[in-house]
Amino acid sequence: MQDLPSDRDALQALLDFHVEAGVDLALDETPHNRFAEPKAERSPARAPAAGSAPKASAAPSAPSPRALPKAAASAPEEVAIMAREQARHAQSLEELEAILAGFDGCALKFSAKNLAFADGNPEGRVMLVGEAPGADEDRIGKPFMGRSGQLLDRMLATIGLDRTQVYVANIVPWRPPGNRTPTPQEIAICKPFIARQIELASPEILLCLGGPAAQNLLGLKDGILRTRGRWYSYKTEDGREMKALPTLHPAYLLRQPLQKRLGWRDFQALRRALDGRE
Ligand code: URA
Repeated sequence: MQDLPSDRDALQALLDFHVEAGVDLALDETPHNRFAEPKAERSPARAPAAGSAPKASAAPSAPSPRALPKAAASAPEEVAIMAREQARHAQSLEELEAILAGFDGCALKFSAKNLAFADGNPEGRVMLVGEAPGADEDRIGKPFMGRSGQLLDRMLATIGLDRTQVYVANIVPWRPPGNRTPTPQEIAICKPFIARQIELASPEILLCLGGPAAQNLLGLKDGILRTRGRWYSYKTEDGREMKALPTLHPAYLLRQPLQKRLGWRDFQALRRALDGRE
């Protein structure tokens, strides 16, 4: 392992460097030198085939406190099928949240502090879906609690809405380490849950915040700058159709403030639709 500087300022500077680089999460209690491990230990862990006895490891080591349960280490397609079956069982949003909290198929659960299932009013006419929780959402256990959430609240306020009138969720309900983008596999595993959440909340209008939400929920191939501001239709598994509007993600608007005018236009379109004028 790299030698650590001994003085406080240098140590702080090193820590700041890691946080800036997105390394803000320790995944294990102790550092591992993966290059020094025997080959067998380095190959990815695979769940043993059903019924087969687990093989003894070439070099046994103490179990990691963060070892993933079997479900999270299974093939993503199998886990997505499991997720679909479990999500379908939920008859209410409370049940869905409890099922998701007990679901071990997504590895993100084991690096996250909390499940950030939803915020706002599930009876609201509008449901907003973002990408994934960040550090603030992970700490609090609710979507859109940090700076993006504050901007979102200001944008909602411009059209006379607040969180008592809208329901908010994410396509992935656990924070990806270091706020990285969720992988296609993580999204595929979590998708049955957000699909069921939309079905159970059954809003009139679905607002997709950012490209990943628009692409994964509406099946759009184009990027968000092409699809934003246009109306699409979202169909639930039980056959209900609702209006869906992709718009720019508030985190993007914080980085690109000049684009706020486009976000503003989309929110105006949402207001008109709620008033039956679009
Ligand atoms: N970004 C998201 O997409 N969702 C959140 O909950 C917070 C930030």
